[in-house]
Formats: sequence, C-alpha cells, structure tokens
Amino acid sequence: MRIPIVNLKPSLAETQEAWQQNLDSMMERGFFILGPELTRFEESLAQAMGAGFAIGVSSGSTAIEICLRDAGITSPKQEVLTSALTAPFTAVSIAAAGGTPRFADIDPETLQVDAADLANRIGKKTAALVPVHLYGQPCEIRAIAKTAKKHGLALIQDACQSHGALPFTQYGDYVALSFYPTKNLGCLGDGGAILTSKSGLAKRLRQIRDGGRGSGGLPQNQIAYVKGINARLDELQCCYLNAFLPRLAEWNDQRRRLAAVYDQMLAGVDGVQLVRRGPESVCHLYVIRAAKRDRLREYLGNIGIGTGIHYPVPLHLHPAFAGAKQKPGSLPHAEKAAKEIVSLPLWPQLPVAQVEETAEEVRRFYD
Ligand SMILES: Cc1ncc(COP(=O)(O)O)c(C=O)c1O
Repeated sequence: MRIPIVNLKPSLAETQEAWQQNLDSMMERGFFILGPELTRFEESLAQAMGAGFAIGVSSGSTAIEICLRDAGITSPKQEVLTSALTAPFTAVSIAAAGGTPRFADIDPETLQVDAADLANRIGKKTAALVPVHLYGQPCEIRAIAKTAKKHGLALIQDACQSHGALPFTQYGDYVALSFYPTKNLGCLGDGGAILTSKSGLAKRLRQIRDGGRGSGGLPQNQIAYVKGINARLDELQCCYLNAFLPRLAEWNDQRRRLAAVYDQMLAGVDGVQLVRRGPESVCHLYVIRAAKRDRLREYLGNIGIGTGIHYPVPLHLHPAFAGAKQKPGSLPHAEKAAKEIVSLPLWPQLPVAQVEETAEEVRRFYD
C-alpha cells in the first residue's frame, strides 16, 4: 500500500539509538526474564500513566485475565459484562479466566460502551464489569465506576487501546494495557501491563503472572502458592518499550493533530459520519461511519490507501461467545455500527499530505 493503515518503521528509526543500547546491555548481562529492563520499565510506566504500580505481563489479554483471576472471577456461573464492540480478545480473556462474557450495546455517536445500557444489564449472576476505552477514547468511566461500586462488582478497565488518555487507576483498581506492535505504545511482539494504585494488589498480580510462585530464594520461589499463569513480560520487549515510552506523549499529540485534520476535511461529507471524541482521546485509530463502507474500502484499496475494520462482527455474534445467549438484533447500535465503520490510515509520523490525500479521496468517492 502506498499509504498503509499503519507504519511502525518511523518510530523504530527515531528511537534506534536507545533500543540498540538497551539490547546491547541485555546481551552483555545474558539475563532475559524478570530482570532490570522490566523493573526500569515498570517504574517509568507507572510514573508516565499516573499509577502507583505497573506490572509487566505477556499481553493485554493476559493482563485482563490476571485481573479477573485476582478478583475471583473464575467460574462460568459468574458473568462479566463488556462492550459488544471491541477486539475479540477482551471477551477471550474473560473466558480464559473462567467467567462467561456478556455484552452491552454502544453509544452510536462515540462507539463506546453505553454506560446506561451496561447498568441495565446487571443481573444476579453479574460479577464484574470490563469497560473498554476504545480507539484511544475514554468511555464513560465515571458513571461506570459508580455503577460497579453501587452493585459491588469488580471493575477491570480495558485500556489496551488508550495509553495515557486518562489516569485510569483513579477510577478503579485494575487497568489493562496491551503493547501489541500497532498500539500507541507497542513492542515487537506480544506484551502488556496492569496498572493499579494499591501495593498489596500489585504484589498479588506479580505473583499470579509468575506461576503463583513465592518471591525470594529457594524454596519459596519454586513453590506455587496461588493459582497462577506464566505471563511474564520479556526483557527483550522491555528494551524496545524503554526506548519508546519517553516518546509516547509526543506521538499521542501527533496522532491528535492528524485526527483533527481528518475531522476538518471530512466534516459535512455526504455519506460520512464522524465519531464523536473528547480532547483526552489519544487517537489510537481514526474511525468513521461510512455509507457503502465496503465499496469505499475497495475504492481506497485500488488507489493504494489501506483501511481496516475495528471490528466487523459484534462479539455477541461470535460462535465462541454463544454462552452469552444474545441473539442477532439484541444489540442494535453495535450491530449497525459494525456494518458501517472503517479505520483510515493513522500513525504518528504519517505525513499531513497523506491524511489530506486520503480525506480528499473519501470525499471524491462520495461525490
Ligand atoms: C480493546 C482491546 N482489548 C484487548 C486486547 C488484547 O491485547 P493483546 O493483543 O495484547 O492480547 C486488544 C488488542 O488486541 C484490544 O485492542
């Protein structure tokens, strides 16, 4: 593609000196798991995110799973409510912990989970809420946190797409981040982290990610005290994350500026509905609702402009989540949006001229 939907090479090039140095030091040490790169990363991530503690884990999915396990959500009799419009991995992680995912509808203007609909769906079996901050935009977290408190439910925020949009730990104990390579803060493989403001919780979460083992020397470090998993974040990935993290705020700003150019050029185009977002959004993806969406994607693809769909099928309609027992038609806003949404190219160093060209081509398609 002439203008791909995402391009990771410029970020790698901009930070090469730093990650190369980190890699050299790691090779010199010859130590690859639970070492000083991870410790350094956890400390600087916690500080950058305004959280007390950060726990590096193997992916955003295991971050969510570990939080649910810690909150005691491990039985299919326990239902966990999340958005119908998110990456499948949000619900995959709920199921991996042992719970049953169920889904709430979205606000058609913002595409974020609808806080009122989420609250209305709370029943006797509901044990936790997993609101998602989708596309870089915070969802209605203040209202959702109140609901969780009122009903005594665990609250796990899926902030896998929204690094740095809000100090999320102010609203709840568990926050999950993903470092999948295309995220605002990504590594060169799978990676993730949990943020929390509580030191006791941080200790337990660290234990769960490392097989439930004790800390210190033998024999404690070879005894599994609690049911854990192996979900550690590698030193290798931290070499890159430590190089990228100092650039995150600047990269987020660049994304915001480019998204504003799209907003300006696409406003008023017949066939395009902009997705409402607030100033905190870190613009992970630039998503519009588009009439004749598939034909628009084909038109753009034919002239070398890449697009994506995040996400084409709402989660209650995935075979793996049939246990939710939510039929087609039951979440109308998510179902309609999934047919209309399209993600346009966006990454921090994307030239403004290419944003303008993409927006111009969208306009031309509808003309
Ligand atoms: C909203 C959301 N939740 C969860 C995940 C899972 O993260 P990971 O791919 O790191 O497991 C992702 C990323 O794919 C995501 O975008």
